[in-house]
This record gives sequence, structure tokens and C-alpha cells, in this order.
Amino acid sequence: MTNDPYKLAGEAAAALKAATGLDTFDVALVMGSGWVPAADALGEVVTEIPLTDLPGFAAPAVAGHGGKLRLVRTGGGRHALVLLGRSHLYEGRGVDAVVHGVRTVAAAGVRTLVLTNAAGGLRPETQRVGDPVLISDHINMTGANPITGTTFIDLSEVYSKRLRALVHEVDPSIAEGVYVAFRGPTYETPAEIRMLRTLGGDLIGMSTVLEAVAAREAGLEVLGVSLVTNPGAGLSDQPLDHTEVLEVGRATAARMGILLAKVIDRI
Ligand code: 6GU
Repeated sequence: MTNDPYKLAGEAAAALKAATGLDTFDVALVMGSGWVPAADALGEVVTEIPLTDLPGFAAPAVAGHGGKLRLVRTGGGRHALVLLGRSHLYEGRGVDAVVHGVRTVAAAGVRTLVLTNAAGGLRPETQRVGDPVLISDHINMTGANPITGTTFIDLSEVYSKRLRALVHEVDPSIAEGVYVAFRGPTYETPAEIRMLRTLGGDLIGMSTVLEAVAAREAGLEVLGVSLVTNPGAGLSDQPLDHTEVLEVGRATAARMGILLAKVIDRI
């Protein structure tokens, strides 16, 4: 097996095409914690492949992250590659493992990527637990970057205005916000949460930004959606707990799957 991450993604893409019998795909989605019901609502399941069958993917470490790649056909006949499970920086496999799924779907010819996650809310004044929020921009505080030793990449529109407008055509009530990523696996301290509010963050999580950057390097159009599962530390009197993060996701996620399928059919 190669240690060039782009070549490895090319090998995974070839294995994916062989396993599905398809040569092109219309869109890919990365489903975060608690987003499985959204995946189930996207359309008809054509095939499912364990991620460990594809070169370069390792078994996920955290509960709620399924570790499968599912091929779905939407009502409008679009083929969607759904990654159920992602690698996080806090799992310790490095930045190339975090973005391998994105590089794989890019190498398989996908031009549009939907990144979802469960996030803490930094604005409880205006956000409710269970709300979906479109990511308008991000602040990368992971200290990592998937693009090294290559070139400069423009990040002035990481999250596509066109795709956000398509979502708003289907559901005008969805808010937008700036997603901040920390590396984790600790949740933030109340002082860090106050800092992030001052810096202009609206959502806090441990994923998405590195995948979005790798996707932009590959020229993909990106849509990001967070599900607010809890307020950040110090913004409520509740301590933070991963099982709660998963539970809250389930309630709204099915509705989001139906919405995303409609958006995909309009791309
Ligand atoms: Cl409060 N912080 C982080 N980093 N990730 C989260 C979260 C908070 N809530 C859900 N995911």
C-alpha cells in the first residue's frame, strides 16, 4: 500500500467503483454523530460497503460512527455516496486519515460534498437544541491543515453560497452560523467558550473544517450542516456528555435527510 495520501485515495476510489459497479456519483455526504436517521431518509439504499474493505480506511473509534459507505438513490434518481462514520483528529491517526474519505470521493469523480456534524451551540440566546444550522464559514483552531507542501488555497467561500441558497429555497427557516473546530477530545472550558463567542463563532465541534479544506483543494462545492445538540460549556447548567449529543441528533435528523434529498435533486 502506498504512503502517498492522494494515490491511496485513488486506489480507494477504484475499489469503490468496482464494488458499486458505477463509474460516476452525483454527490457525497459525510454523516456526523447522530446523523444516521438523516442518511436513512435520503432515499433507497443500493449497496453498503464496510469502510475497512476500501484501501486507507480504519475502523472508527467512537460510538455512533458507523464505519460504512452506503450508495443511495434519491427520489430524483441521483446517486449519493454516504459516508457513515468519519475519522477525527482526536483519534490520533493524523490529518490524512481525517480527509481520506473526502479525497476518495473526489477521486471517484464527485463534485459536490455535504458535511454534517453534531455541534455545541455558542448562541443559546438564538439557538435551540435540535436546530439545524448551515455553516456559513469556519474558524480552524485544530492547529492542523491537510494541505502541506503543496500550494496556497483560496478559502474565501469554503461553504458554497449557491448550495446554501438551494437549502433556503426548500426551507427558509434554517439559520446560518460560523463553525469553530477544536481538536478535542475534551470539550471546551467555559473560558474557551466565552473566547469563541467573542471571536465570532456560533457553533463548536471537532470535525468538518479539515474535510472542507481538503474538499476545496480538490475543487468540490461544499455544503456544511450542524445539528445543535447542546450549548457550549458554561452556557447552561448541564455538564456535557457524548450520549446526550447522539440522542438529540436522532430527533431532527430524519427531517434533515428529507430536506437534503430535495436539495440534492436540485443541484
Ligand atoms: Cl460543546 N464542543 C465540541 N468541541 N464538540 C461538540 C460540542 C461541544 N457539542 C457537540 N459536539
